[in-house]
Amino acid sequence: MTRRKRILKTGNVLVKSTAQLEGIRESGRINTAVLDYVQEHICAGISTEEIDRWVYEQTTRAGGVPAPLNYEGFPKSVCTSRNQVVCHGIPNEKEILKEGDIINVDVSTIYNGYFSDASRMFCIGDVSEDKKRLVQAAKEAVQAGLLEVKPWKPLGDMGHAVHMYAMSRGYSVVEEIGGHGVGLQFHEEPWVSYVAAKGTGEIMVPGLVFTIEPMINMGGPEVYVDDSNGWTVYTEDGMPSAQWEVTVAVTQDGYEILTR
Ligand code: MF3
Ligand code: CO
Repeated sequence: MTRRKRILKTGNVLVKSTAQLEGIRESGRINTAVLDYVQEHICAGISTEEIDRWVYEQTTRAGGVPAPLNYEGFPKSVCTSRNQVVCHGIPNEKEILKEGDIINVDVSTIYNGYFSDASRMFCIGDVSEDKKRLVQAAKEAVQAGLLEVKPWKPLGDMGHAVHMYAMSRGYSVVEEIGGHGVGLQFHEEPWVSYVAAKGTGEIMVPGLVFTIEPMINMGGPEVYVDDSNGWTVYTEDGMPSAQWEVTVAVTQDGYEILTR
Protein backbone atom coordinates (compact mmCIF):
# COMPACT_ATOMS: atom_id res chain seq x y z
CA MET A 1 0.00 0.00 0.00
CA THR A 2 1.04 3.58 -0.47
CA ARG A 3 1.75 6.14 2.25
CA ARG A 4 -1.18 8.19 0.96
CA LYS A 5 -3.61 5.41 1.77
CA ARG A 6 -2.15 5.02 5.24
CA ILE A 7 -3.13 8.57 6.10
CA LEU A 8 -6.77 7.82 5.26
CA LYS A 9 -6.96 5.02 7.83
CA THR A 10 -7.90 5.71 11.43
CA GLY A 11 -8.79 3.82 14.58
CA ASN A 12 -6.54 0.85 14.01
CA VAL A 13 -5.75 -1.59 16.80
CA LEU A 14 -2.13 -2.71 16.61
CA VAL A 15 -1.92 -5.54 19.12
CA LYS A 16 -4.14 -8.56 18.60
CA SER A 17 -5.71 -10.68 21.31
CA THR A 18 -5.32 -14.47 21.35
CA ALA A 19 -8.84 -14.82 19.93
CA GLN A 20 -8.13 -12.31 17.17
CA LEU A 21 -4.89 -14.11 16.30
CA GLU A 22 -6.81 -17.37 15.95
CA GLY A 23 -9.27 -15.61 13.63
CA ILE A 24 -6.47 -14.29 11.43
CA ARG A 25 -4.83 -17.73 11.48
CA GLU A 26 -8.06 -19.31 10.17
CA SER A 27 -8.35 -16.67 7.48
CA GLY A 28 -4.71 -17.35 6.60
CA ARG A 29 -5.38 -21.07 6.16
CA ILE A 30 -7.96 -20.32 3.49
CA ASN A 31 -5.64 -17.79 1.88
CA THR A 32 -2.84 -20.38 1.72
CA ALA A 33 -5.19 -22.99 0.22
CA VAL A 34 -6.25 -20.53 -2.49
CA LEU A 35 -2.62 -19.81 -3.39
CA ASP A 36 -1.91 -23.57 -3.41
CA TYR A 37 -4.78 -23.98 -5.89
CA VAL A 38 -3.34 -21.25 -8.13
CA GLN A 39 0.09 -22.88 -7.91
CA GLU A 40 -1.31 -26.24 -9.06
CA HIS A 41 -3.20 -24.83 -12.02
CA ILE A 42 -1.25 -21.84 -13.36
CA CYS A 43 0.30 -22.42 -16.82
CA ALA A 44 1.00 -20.83 -20.18
CA GLY A 45 -2.08 -20.07 -22.28
CA ILE A 46 -4.50 -19.03 -19.55
CA SER A 47 -5.64 -15.45 -19.02
CA THR A 48 -5.16 -13.54 -15.80
CA GLU A 49 -8.99 -13.33 -15.73
CA GLU A 50 -8.95 -17.12 -15.28
CA ILE A 51 -6.78 -16.70 -12.16
CA ASP A 52 -9.33 -14.18 -10.88
CA ARG A 53 -12.12 -16.74 -11.37
CA TRP A 54 -10.15 -19.42 -9.47
CA VAL A 55 -9.50 -17.07 -6.57
CA TYR A 56 -13.12 -15.96 -6.37
CA GLU A 57 -14.44 -19.53 -6.55
CA GLN A 58 -11.95 -21.11 -4.14
CA THR A 59 -12.28 -18.31 -1.59
CA THR A 60 -16.08 -18.20 -1.57
CA ARG A 61 -16.35 -22.01 -1.56
CA ALA A 62 -14.31 -21.97 1.67
CA GLY A 63 -16.69 -19.41 3.18
CA GLY A 64 -14.39 -16.42 2.66
CA VAL A 65 -14.55 -13.19 0.69
CA PRO A 66 -11.69 -11.96 -1.54
CA ALA A 67 -10.49 -8.79 0.21
CA PRO A 68 -9.43 -6.91 -2.95
CA LEU A 69 -12.89 -7.13 -4.57
CA ASN A 70 -14.35 -3.59 -4.50
CA TYR A 71 -11.62 -2.48 -2.07
CA GLU A 72 -11.33 1.27 -2.68
CA GLY A 73 -12.75 0.56 -6.12
CA PHE A 74 -10.45 -2.32 -7.06
CA PRO A 75 -12.52 -4.26 -9.62
CA LYS A 76 -11.25 -7.85 -9.19
CA SER A 77 -10.65 -10.54 -6.53
CA VAL A 78 -6.88 -10.76 -6.87
CA CYS A 79 -3.87 -8.78 -8.12
CA THR A 80 -1.89 -10.38 -10.96
CA SER A 81 1.37 -8.56 -11.70
CA ARG A 82 3.42 -9.82 -14.64
CA ASN A 83 7.05 -9.04 -15.59
CA GLN A 84 7.55 -5.24 -15.35
CA VAL A 85 4.30 -4.82 -13.39
CA VAL A 86 5.37 -4.19 -9.80
CA CYS A 87 2.00 -4.72 -8.09
CA HIS A 88 -1.76 -4.17 -8.31
CA GLY A 89 -2.09 -5.66 -11.80
CA ILE A 90 -5.78 -6.06 -12.69
CA PRO A 91 -6.74 -9.46 -14.14
CA ASN A 92 -8.28 -9.36 -17.60
CA GLU A 93 -9.39 -11.69 -20.36
CA LYS A 94 -6.88 -10.30 -22.88
CA GLU A 95 -3.75 -10.84 -20.81
CA ILE A 96 -2.55 -14.36 -21.64
CA LEU A 97 0.34 -16.00 -19.78
CA LYS A 98 3.17 -17.08 -22.02
CA GLU A 99 6.40 -19.06 -21.62
CA GLY A 100 9.09 -16.95 -20.02
CA ASP A 101 6.72 -14.76 -17.97
CA ILE A 102 7.10 -14.25 -14.26
CA ILE A 103 3.94 -13.32 -12.40
CA ASN A 104 2.98 -12.36 -8.88
CA VAL A 105 -0.42 -13.55 -7.66
CA ASP A 106 -1.47 -11.59 -4.56
CA VAL A 107 -4.32 -13.18 -2.62
CA SER A 108 -6.08 -11.60 0.37
CA THR A 109 -8.95 -13.19 2.28
CA ILE A 110 -11.65 -12.00 4.66
CA TYR A 111 -12.99 -14.84 6.80
CA ASN A 112 -15.32 -14.31 9.71
CA GLY A 113 -14.26 -10.64 9.67
CA TYR A 114 -10.51 -11.40 9.79
CA PHE A 115 -8.08 -10.41 7.04
CA SER A 116 -5.01 -12.25 5.75
CA ASP A 117 -2.69 -11.41 2.86
CA ALA A 118 0.03 -13.30 0.94
CA SER A 119 1.53 -13.52 -2.52
CA ARG A 120 3.81 -15.80 -4.50
CA MET A 121 5.72 -15.60 -7.74
CA PHE A 122 5.23 -18.13 -10.52
CA CYS A 123 7.57 -18.84 -13.41
CA ILE A 124 5.67 -19.79 -16.56
CA GLY A 125 7.44 -22.53 -18.50
CA ASP A 126 11.05 -21.84 -19.36
CA VAL A 127 12.11 -18.56 -17.77
CA SER A 128 15.43 -16.79 -18.35
CA GLU A 129 18.18 -17.25 -15.74
CA ASP A 130 18.03 -13.50 -15.01
CA LYS A 131 14.36 -13.60 -14.12
CA LYS A 132 14.68 -16.84 -12.13
CA ARG A 133 17.46 -15.32 -10.07
CA LEU A 134 15.30 -12.22 -9.40
CA VAL A 135 12.34 -14.36 -8.27
CA GLN A 136 14.57 -16.40 -5.96
CA ALA A 137 16.23 -13.31 -4.49
CA ALA A 138 12.83 -11.72 -3.80
CA LYS A 139 11.86 -14.85 -1.85
CA GLU A 140 15.11 -14.78 0.08
CA ALA A 141 14.65 -11.07 0.86
CA VAL A 142 11.49 -11.99 2.78
CA GLN A 143 13.47 -14.64 4.69
CA ALA A 144 16.13 -12.05 5.52
CA GLY A 145 13.40 -9.81 6.92
CA LEU A 146 11.82 -12.62 8.93
CA LEU A 147 15.11 -13.28 10.72
CA GLU A 148 14.80 -9.78 12.22
CA VAL A 149 11.23 -10.23 13.49
CA LYS A 150 11.65 -10.46 17.26
CA PRO A 151 9.76 -8.76 20.09
CA TRP A 152 11.02 -5.38 21.31
CA LYS A 153 13.10 -4.70 18.19
CA PRO A 154 12.23 -1.76 15.94
CA LEU A 155 10.45 -2.55 12.68
CA GLY A 156 13.13 -0.66 10.75
CA ASP A 157 15.61 -3.46 11.53
CA MET A 158 13.43 -5.81 9.48
CA GLY A 159 13.11 -3.38 6.55
CA HIS A 160 16.81 -2.65 6.63
CA ALA A 161 17.66 -6.36 6.44
CA VAL A 162 15.41 -6.76 3.39
CA HIS A 163 17.06 -3.81 1.68
CA MET A 164 20.60 -5.00 2.44
CA TYR A 165 19.81 -8.46 1.14
CA ALA A 166 18.29 -7.16 -2.12
CA MET A 167 21.27 -4.85 -2.69
CA SER A 168 23.71 -7.68 -2.02
CA ARG A 169 22.10 -9.50 -4.96
CA GLY A 170 22.39 -6.42 -7.18
CA TYR A 171 18.73 -5.41 -7.04
CA SER A 172 16.78 -2.36 -5.89
CA VAL A 173 13.76 -2.09 -3.60
CA VAL A 174 10.65 0.00 -4.30
CA GLU A 175 10.37 2.79 -1.73
CA GLU A 176 6.92 4.32 -2.22
CA ILE A 177 4.93 1.14 -1.70
CA GLY A 178 5.24 -0.95 1.42
CA GLY A 179 3.55 -3.48 3.65
CA HIS A 180 1.03 -2.89 6.39
CA GLY A 181 -0.57 -4.09 9.55
CA VAL A 182 -3.40 -6.51 8.82
CA GLY A 183 -6.02 -8.56 10.62
CA LEU A 184 -9.09 -6.58 11.63
CA GLN A 185 -8.91 -4.51 8.46
CA PHE A 186 -7.12 -5.02 5.14
CA HIS A 187 -4.63 -2.22 5.71
CA GLU A 188 -3.82 -1.14 9.24
CA GLU A 189 -0.98 0.67 10.94
CA PRO A 190 1.95 0.38 10.81
CA TRP A 191 3.07 1.20 7.31
CA VAL A 192 6.01 -1.13 6.61
CA SER A 193 9.03 0.06 4.65
CA TYR A 194 11.66 -2.25 3.15
CA VAL A 195 14.26 0.47 2.80
CA ALA A 196 14.05 1.59 6.44
CA ALA A 197 17.03 2.56 8.56
CA LYS A 198 18.12 0.30 11.39
CA GLY A 199 16.82 1.38 14.79
CA THR A 200 13.82 3.30 13.41
CA GLY A 201 10.07 2.67 13.32
CA GLU A 202 7.49 1.03 15.56
CA ILE A 203 8.58 -1.51 18.17
CA MET A 204 7.61 -5.07 17.29
CA VAL A 205 5.48 -6.08 20.25
CA PRO A 206 3.96 -9.55 20.66
CA GLY A 207 0.57 -9.60 18.93
CA LEU A 208 1.57 -7.16 16.19
CA VAL A 209 0.51 -8.59 12.82
CA PHE A 210 1.89 -7.20 9.57
CA THR A 211 2.95 -8.15 6.05
CA ILE A 212 6.45 -8.57 4.65
CA GLU A 213 6.04 -7.93 0.93
CA PRO A 214 9.03 -6.14 -0.60
CA MET A 215 8.96 -5.31 -4.30
CA ILE A 216 12.40 -6.15 -5.72
CA ASN A 217 13.40 -4.61 -9.06
CA MET A 218 15.99 -5.92 -11.47
CA GLY A 219 16.76 -2.35 -12.55
CA GLY A 220 16.15 0.92 -10.72
CA PRO A 221 13.70 1.41 -7.84
CA GLU A 222 11.55 4.01 -9.64
CA VAL A 223 7.92 3.18 -10.35
CA TYR A 224 4.81 4.85 -11.77
CA VAL A 225 1.07 4.24 -11.51
CA ASP A 226 -1.03 3.54 -14.61
CA ASP A 227 -3.19 6.66 -15.13
CA SER A 228 -5.83 4.74 -17.02
CA ASN A 229 -6.88 2.61 -14.04
CA GLY A 230 -5.29 4.36 -11.04
CA TRP A 231 -3.97 1.04 -9.68
CA THR A 232 -1.35 -0.80 -11.67
CA VAL A 233 2.24 0.03 -10.75
CA TYR A 234 5.05 -0.43 -13.31
CA THR A 235 8.81 -0.13 -13.14
CA GLU A 236 9.93 3.17 -14.69
CA ASP A 237 12.68 1.46 -16.70
CA GLY A 238 10.53 -1.44 -17.92
CA MET A 239 12.72 -4.03 -16.18
CA PRO A 240 11.12 -6.95 -14.33
CA SER A 241 10.03 -6.81 -10.69
CA ALA A 242 9.32 -9.62 -8.23
CA GLN A 243 7.49 -9.85 -4.91
CA TRP A 244 6.65 -12.49 -2.34
CA GLU A 245 4.44 -11.71 0.64
CA VAL A 246 3.73 -13.29 4.00
CA THR A 247 1.52 -12.25 6.91
CA VAL A 248 3.46 -12.55 10.13
CA ALA A 249 2.61 -12.22 13.83
CA VAL A 250 5.19 -11.18 16.41
CA THR A 251 5.25 -13.77 19.23
CA GLN A 252 6.87 -13.83 22.70
CA ASP A 253 10.13 -15.13 21.27
CA GLY A 254 10.07 -14.49 17.52
CA TYR A 255 7.39 -14.78 14.86
CA GLU A 256 4.63 -16.95 13.48
CA ILE A 257 3.79 -16.99 9.77
CA LEU A 258 -0.01 -16.76 9.45
CA THR A 259 -0.18 -17.16 5.69
CA ARG A 260 2.32 -17.63 2.90
N1 MF3 B 1 -1.02 -7.19 -0.79
C1 MF3 B 1 -1.47 -6.09 -1.58
C2 MF3 B 1 -1.37 -4.84 -0.75
O1 MF3 B 1 -1.42 -4.91 0.44
C3 MF3 B 1 -2.85 -6.34 -2.05
C4 MF3 B 1 -3.51 -5.19 -2.69
S1 MF3 B 1 -5.09 -5.61 -3.18
C5 MF3 B 1 -5.77 -4.16 -3.73
O2 MF3 B 1 -1.20 -3.75 -1.28
F1 MF3 B 1 -7.04 -4.38 -3.84
F2 MF3 B 1 -5.55 -3.21 -2.86
F3 MF3 B 1 -5.23 -3.85 -4.86
CO1 CO C 1 -0.43 -6.66 1.38
